[in-house]
Amino acid sequence: MTPEQSKNVIEVLNKARAMELKAILQYLNQHYGLADDDYGKLASAVKKIAIDEMKHAEEFAERIKDIDGSQEPTAEIDGKIIKGQEADTIFLFDTEEERTTMIKYNEFAKICRENNDAVSATLFEKIINEEQEHFNYFDDTATHIKKLGNSFLARQTSGTAD
Ligand SMILES: [Fe+2]
Ligand SMILES: [Fe+2]
Repeated sequence: MTPEQSKNVIEVLNKARAMELKAILQYLNQHYGLADDDYGKLASAVKKIAIDEMKHAEEFAERIKDIDGSQEPTAEIDGKIIKGQEADTIFLFDTEEERTTMIKYNEFAKICRENNDAVSATLFEKIINEEQEHFNYFDDTATHIKKLGNSFLARQTSGTAD
């Protein structure tokens, strides 16, 4: 890669890292709320997804360091988190977050290829697959809450919130 190409790729890797940092905080905030409301199963599933996002944030940082060891990966968060969401809004909200993330990461993968960086493009594609799994879980859960409401939520109280 030329210096210009490296700069373009690092820019999208940092944008993606900032999105992951926001997702971590957003999902952990939801985890605490769901645990407080005694939805232990939902709380622990959301926390597991937050941990996936931590791995993504780290994978983007490692790729930045591989391209240019002098770069410090961003610690910025992409926007503000929303606090105090209820179970019936959390899963619809998160479904849209994951949808937006997949659209963005497809654009970023394309930018990586245009700048001769197949390794970063492949990293984006691997992570898109994992965001698809998150999307599926959030979308299924939102559908259950919409269709079954309280009878579904009442079944989420067992399990641990950790
Ligand atoms: Fe992610
Ligand atoms: Fe995700």
